[in-house]
Amino acid sequence: MTPLIAHLSTTVSAPQAPTWVRLTELGAAVLFILALKGLSSPKSARRGNLLGALGAGVATVVIFFYGTEYYGEGLSNLKGNLPFILLAITIGSLIGWIAAKRVQMTQMPQMVALFNGVGGGAAAVVSVVEFSAPTANESKAALAATVFTVLVGAVSFSGSILTFMKLQELMTSRPVVLPLGRYITSLAGIGTIAAAILLVVDPTNTLLYVLLGMSLLMGLLLVLPVGGADVPIVISLLNAFTGLSVAASGYVLGNTLLIVAGTLVGASGTLLTRMMAAAMGRPLTNTLFGAFTAKAITASGTTEDRPVKSASPDDVAIMLSYARKVIIVPGYGLAVAQAQNTIRELVELLSAKGIQVDYAIHPVAGRMPGHMNVLLAEANVPYDQLKEMDEINPEFAEADVALVVGANDVVNPAARDDKTAPIYGMPILNVDQAGQVVFLKRSMRPGFAGIENELLFDPKTSLLFGDAKETLTKVVSAVKGL
Ligand code: TAP
Repeated sequence: MTPLIAHLSTTVSAPQAPTWVRLTELGAAVLFILALKGLSSPKSARRGNLLGALGAGVATVVIFFYGTEYYGEGLSNLKGNLPFILLAITIGSLIGWIAAKRVQMTQMPQMVALFNGVGGGAAAVVSVVEFSAPTANESKAALAATVFTVLVGAVSFSGSILTFMKLQELMTSRPVVLPLGRYITSLAGIGTIAAAILLVVDPTNTLLYVLLGMSLLMGLLLVLPVGGADVPIVISLLNAFTGLSVAASGYVLGNTLLIVAGTLVGASGTLLTRMMAAAMGRPLTNTLFGAFTAKAITASGTTEDRPVKSASPDDVAIMLSYARKVIIVPGYGLAVAQAQNTIRELVELLSAKGIQVDYAIHPVAGRMPGHMNVLLAEANVPYDQLKEMDEINPEFAEADVALVVGANDVVNPAARDDKTAPIYGMPILNVDQAGQVVFLKRSMRPGFAGIENELLFDPKTSLLFGDAKETLTKVVSAVKGL
């Protein structure tokens, strides 16, 4: 057994905890794992979410019944502080409840970023308190875990708050590159790690606050140069950071469940980050530091005066009704317009006419992983009609019409052809290979990445302008009348 593992087992196993506490904690850990399993499919996601919430509830309640004895002097003030703890839980629960009730599905990433930041911040604050407490465990391994939690938790906190501001459009969502940014970030990174090592060697409160400040700065410096389509990857990375800091704080507090939950979040966040980076077709280092080396972004929110072909709902209805194969490409605008039921109705009408219709699902369409799957599941679209990007891409060349409903970046050929584009390298849906392309959108404004889409100007593309729900409703009536 290595010294660290030996230390872990002595610190964490808390021999005085009775069997019922250990079994309850084991039950909560199993609930967390079942929650993750449930969340891996839209069919079982709701159940998975409930199981996770139940696990968290059990974990919290156990502390109240067995907190003091289990965790020793560290929580010996629990009873004295009970009113404050209950007040904090009530206020936190109320805010969480109201926020979750009010949030639009399209604002979910902001909420995830905010809640994630609060989690990382809480882990960092717990460790700052533990560090300053006279009863703090003085072993170097425990000290290293405390310092790690402060560093990673604070990076996650400030980074997540900045991500929230970008997504909420409280600041520009474009990459922000400071003059000499690459050097400032490198220096700050080296300084932060040096402060962390010094703190373990020679712990002082002053150095602790220096580390806290530098870690908060690092979070900002890491997220500032990330922009546009890469922001979701950063949310997932910061989520993994929060998991790791929570796991380390579990070690500091000797709480097995925090270690288990934090490790699960850290591992799943890391996997999701890797999968999303792969979906965007670029290594993670490129996402984080690409802006330092990228050429000036050619993108602009303005449109030049170039001709586009606009179509009426009747034109689109005729195009669709006389097709043999139609592929629907849903995107963020479908969610904004809440047109999921209308598109299902249109697909049902076309299918009844013997037309083969499929939905093409891009992994980062919308504003959160699985956004389109969840949206279409809400409208009871059968899962077998949803085809993932790799499966559907070869089929575009045989499709008569590709109907793009509120999507833009995920079909933008600049990702294939323009090396200076911020989405260059991201695999896209091969909509441009279809016989005809129809875009349903309100204007010529670009999508999330802020870059113009050449496909809008292609001679085989028609644009039906307007809110997707309104235009789709008109197309549905027109198809019914044919
Ligand atoms: P976008 O590129 O953002 O394009 C959305 C399109 O919807 C825009 O062209 C917009 O044009 C149109 N639209 C908005 N509201 C509409 C409405 N009510 N009716 C009709 N059209 C409407 O979306 P996408 O193609 O789904 O790509 C997703 C982007 O978001 C990617 O860049 C991705 O990286 C990023 N992102 C993804 C996630 C995840 S994990 N999925 C999270 C955050 C960010 P108008 O304004 O002209 O209508």
